[in-house]
Amino acid sequence: MKWFLVLSSLLFSDIHAQDFQTEAKNLTDDLKESLMKNLSEKISKDGVVEAVSFCHLNVKSIAKAAAADRIKKYEFGRTSHKIRNVDNAPQPWAEDYLKDFEGKKKGEIKMTPIIFKLDNGKRVYLRPLYVEAKCLLCHGDNVSKNIHDKIQELYPKDKALGFKLNEFRGFIWVKEK
Ligand code: HEC
Repeated sequence: MKWFLVLSSLLFSDIHAQDFQTEAKNLTDDLKESLMKNLSEKISKDGVVEAVSFCHLNVKSIAKAAAADRIKKYEFGRTSHKIRNVDNAPQPWAEDYLKDFEGKKKGEIKMTPIIFKLDNGKRVYLRPLYVEAKCLLCHGDNVSKNIHDKIQELYPKDKALGFKLNEFRGFIWVKEK
């Protein structure tokens, strides 16, 4: 009986972990897609400079809308070793992973899902983001002056410039509440 309980609780926790992995993956898919769709639309409609202010004001509400009812179960956000918005500063549990990924190119670190448990038992999922061509407009090392000025105005402490194509940019993260 005892063994049965141990076994079934092991099994149960694995199922739970699998659920978390699937849900966290879906949530980050939706966040990515929704952020990029809104950003691209804004860029093609009003240009990159306007899109910088748009990001500044709307990232959170876009993300919340994409997360819908999952907000009850999960916290989520973006973080990086080089941040633009200080609100995205890494939490302690992200720091070691950021060090591992810093400066790496896409494919250099084998992509297995990064999932771990915090001391309080809550699970965390980290999904690496890499620099695509369109990201360079606002995160590259050759950002045009008007975009650069806008970024400086909104984020005087910005550190998120100078990235290269395919370089690790940061994580989207999901954490159980
Ligand atoms: C129009 C300019 C623009 C483009 C294009 C852009 N970003 Fe950003 N990015 C920003 C701004 C502005 C912020 C700060 C948003 C905020 O206030 O939360 C930001 C923040 C981030 C963050 C959160 C961490 C931090 O530094 O605060 C990540 C990660 C990120 N961008 C990745 C990307 C990736 C990957 C791409 C390309 C797929 C991309 N960005 C394209 C302007 C841009």
